Amino acid sequence: MRAVVLAEDERKTITALFADLKGSTALIEGLDPEEARAIIDPALQLMMDAVHRYDGYVAQALGDGIFALFGAPIAHEDHPQRALYAALRMQEDMRRYSDQVRLRHGTALALRVGVNTGEVVVRSIRKDDLHTDYVPVGHSTNLAARMEQMATPGSILTTEYTHKLTAGYFEVKALGAASIKGMVDPLPVYEVLGAGPLRTRMQVSARRGLTRFVGRQAELEQLQHALERAKTGHSQIVGTMGEPGLGKSRLLYEFKLLSHSSCLVLEAYSVSHGKASPYLPVIELLKSYFRIEPSDDERTRRQKVIGKVLELDRSLEDTLPYLYTVLGIEERPSPLQQMDPQIRRQRTFDAIKKLLLRESLNQPLILIFEDLHWIDSETQGFLDTLSKGVASAKILLLVNYRPEYHHEWGQKTYYTQLHLAPLSKAEAEEFLDALFGSSVGADLRVGPQELGAHTGAPLQTLRQLILEKTQGTPFFIEEIVQDLVERGVLVRDSVRADPGPALSLAKGVGPQAPGAPTGVPLQIPPTVQGVLAARIDRLAPEEKTLLQQLAVIGREFPLSLVRQVITQPEEELHRLLAALQHKEFLYEQPAFPEVEYIFKHALTQEVAYGSVLIERRKVLHEQTGQAIEQLYKENLDEHYSELAHHYHRSGNTEKAIEYLQKVGQQAVQRSAHAEAVSYLTTAVRLLRAMPETPARARRELRLLLALSVPLTSVRGYAEKEVKAIYDRAYLLCQQIGETPQLFLVLRGLRYFHLVGGNIPEAQALGEKLLQVAQRTQDSGFLLQAHFALGASLCLLGDFTLSRIHLEESLVLYDVSTYRSHSFLYGQDPGATALSYLSWALWFLGYPDQALKKMQEALSLAQELTHPYSQAFVLCCASMLHQYRQETQASHKQAERQIAIGNEQGFLYWLTLGNCYRRWALIEQGQEMDEVAQLREHMDAVRSTGTELFRPYLFTLLARALRKTRQIEEGLKVVAEGMIAGDKTGERFYEAELYRLKGELLLQKAEGDKA
Ligand SMILES: Nc1ncnc2c1ncn2[C@@H]1O[C@H](COP(=O)(O)OP(=O)(O)O)[C@@H](O)[C@H]1O
Ligand SMILES: [Mg+2]
Repeated sequence: MRAVVLAEDERKTITALFADLKGSTALIEGLDPEEARAIIDPALQLMMDAVHRYDGYVAQALGDGIFALFGAPIAHEDHPQRALYAALRMQEDMRRYSDQVRLRHGTALALRVGVNTGEVVVRSIRKDDLHTDYVPVGHSTNLAARMEQMATPGSILTTEYTHKLTAGYFEVKALGAASIKGMVDPLPVYEVLGAGPLRTRMQVSARRGLTRFVGRQAELEQLQHALERAKTGHSQIVGTMGEPGLGKSRLLYEFKLLSHSSCLVLEAYSVSHGKASPYLPVIELLKSYFRIEPSDDERTRRQKVIGKVLELDRSLEDTLPYLYTVLGIEERPSPLQQMDPQIRRQRTFDAIKKLLLRESLNQPLILIFEDLHWIDSETQGFLDTLSKGVASAKILLLVNYRPEYHHEWGQKTYYTQLHLAPLSKAEAEEFLDALFGSSVGADLRVGPQELGAHTGAPLQTLRQLILEKTQGTPFFIEEIVQDLVERGVLVRDSVRADPGPALSLAKGVGPQAPGAPTGVPLQIPPTVQGVLAARIDRLAPEEKTLLQQLAVIGREFPLSLVRQVITQPEEELHRLLAALQHKEFLYEQPAFPEVEYIFKHALTQEVAYGSVLIERRKVLHEQTGQAIEQLYKENLDEHYSELAHHYHRSGNTEKAIEYLQKVGQQAVQRSAHAEAVSYLTTAVRLLRAMPETPARARRELRLLLALSVPLTSVRGYAEKEVKAIYDRAYLLCQQIGETPQLFLVLRGLRYFHLVGGNIPEAQALGEKLLQVAQRTQDSGFLLQAHFALGASLCLLGDFTLSRIHLEESLVLYDVSTYRSHSFLYGQDPGATALSYLSWALWFLGYPDQALKKMQEALSLAQELTHPYSQAFVLCCASMLHQYRQETQASHKQAERQIAIGNEQGFLYWLTLGNCYRRWALIEQGQEMDEVAQLREHMDAVRSTGTELFRPYLFTLLARALRKTRQIEEGLKVVAEGMIAGDKTGERFYEAELYRLKGELLLQKAEGDKA
């Protein structure tokens, strides 16, 4: 045999098994070496046989033990099960062998087995190679060896991870945590005792609790139709084809529930390691027909078979020897032993068929054969026999299989083919609702209305991410959700009483969390990884290598990019791409001017990616980055995000930062603030890991200022992190010396103080800004400085001076020149100055002019289509209407402000808007008992670090209390408002506090009189 070692090593998740003989040294001492070998060799052979039976790979045969792998070189989706089945089999065979040895030599032999699952680096070798220069490297194999060393002779030990992956398939005993050499913490260890009650994945799912069934109505109807035909004596076959996890088994399960009352249903399933076990599905089917239990002894089994057969029809007596043989019931001497194997085989098939045909005369029969892609050749032979010549029986044969299985029923009139597609978008949503608990899903679709429900936004993002990744494969969806629950990202809501386990995000998980843009990193659960890795490993080696390379290039890629990165002769490349398309790993997308490819499943791409060694990935990422730079010289700006991605992963920090900054700024322009924060934060982090130089300081300053804009948008002006950024930026300015960026930094600090509760300090910084602006004679700076002063003066209550500065600012303003300020400063200076000017005019006693300026501000913001500026102006407008006692109009603007806040994740505007809405509702006589809620909303505003408008908000609260006749409480609130104003210097609405105090006192006096 020739070892075909491919050039590249790869990462794989495998299950490692160590087994060795205990007691062999004692036995061998005093024996002739040849004699000793004669004892040891058969034991080694039996270990290897057990491994091979479950398609494992013997990596090393040691003196008196072996080291074997499952899931490599070729991945199997159920490698942990296979390893444990092999271990059990070894122990069983070993016990038998040991008995023989003891009889002959007086000493016993016993086997210790250790098993563990984990990721390793291996060199890939062709399937048919049994050469042993294939050794995986990784901690997880050491752990398997440790398990073996800890096992008492005759037992099998495994780790928690392997146990978790195989739960239900095996009977185990938890041995508690044991300390393990080389490991800090003790690890839980399990002893594997025997096979458990479950055989298939569907049974495991059923034990976990089936998710509410969705969709598949057309398929159920077709099955129903076939059954109707079968019942009238026209035997039918229905084949359901679909990729793993699409719901083939579930469909048949549901159909069975619908029809079992009118038929006899017999089920048979193949298992992935079943090819080596002839007749396994048929045996299962017959066992359930004869109601044979695992605990039945030979005699009971025989009686059950005879009883049932003769009761059915005495003339079936001649089938008995065949049934006995298949069922492993021994007859001595067996009449069949002399028969030619081929003839015996055919007669066995005929016997079973006869039995089933006879049974179908009593009532219609549904026979279910699952997972034909794993079928053994005997069972296949039986199915071929069965499907011929039962045309007029009342039998419905239901089979299911994955696309790689081929059969010859296609042309038959009595055959129906169902092709299971992924769940549609709507069905997948429904499926997720069912998993998350329906009530949560329903809430989410309406959209979070209040801050309390604001966590709905990240949850919704997470749901979208799950839908995108899994593309309608229910198994993947279930496993990913289950994985999130197990990792504590999702928690079951114990408060909710309605049916179904409502899931919600754990505390602290949200868009702010580090990591992926959503903050919730999705991981591929090992179960899903196993299924996909097994599919990938069935590819030819050169196809697989290409797929891995493509996975690094991306989910989608044009042909020219592949050509640039992958050095393969053109023809070969085309052949391989065509093969990958044919096997449904890739799709071709119509695109102009050239062909584009896309991975059919995002998850396949990820699994293939994960199998590439990190070192190799880096090289490919770097090559891809360079290729993109070359190919798209002309329009590089459309590729910044890919470039940032590739250079980040390739470890090219220099370029990664460059592109992260560019794509971050692009995101700001699109008002994609959360995204921008994530890009720019990454860039800052990468930069800080570089050596400190003056150039680095300048670069960091630029990045921080770029980051400050979107960060302020999503967190608010006075939030801790925003402040930290400006503090650091200020420090950098001082290091660098005179720099135009100082202006931006001072402006940021000014906002922090303004919103954070120190308006006089903000005013002082405003004056500094004006100095810098005058010194540099930059008209953009001047405009900003006048606006800054105008705003703080207004808040301090100096409306005359405020008006002068604001008008000054507006003289300098011009839409087309200063459009860029929206992105540089985060908001448009014209629209915001108009808003403040409108207020100043109102307080100076020009209500009509005030209204007019606000109209101008609103239409300017509208025209700019800049959401942040819009939210700003809407907030000011809502407040102006409150001053004017126009509750309805105020309410309307607040609703618009909330909508934008929610949509864009502007916490500051959202929380303020919630206060105005609550107040307006109370003022309009609705929700009168919700005054406490207004308080809560005010606290939410404060949670963003905001002290600004607190005295103002107290006037709203006091009005609400007056409205609901809570006079004492109202007076207290007014006092609180005054204290708050004294603290922050906010005076613009102080007069209203006094007015309210007067009114409340009057009301109190009247109340006392009455
Ligand atoms: N239409 C569906 N509605 C609800 N759950 C489904 C649906 N289809 C599949 N599932 C669930 O998804 C998982 C995988 O389905 P399964 O039938 O085992 O897939 P397959 O047999 O095609 O590999 C199971 O837990 C199953 O209950
Ligand atoms: Mg199935």
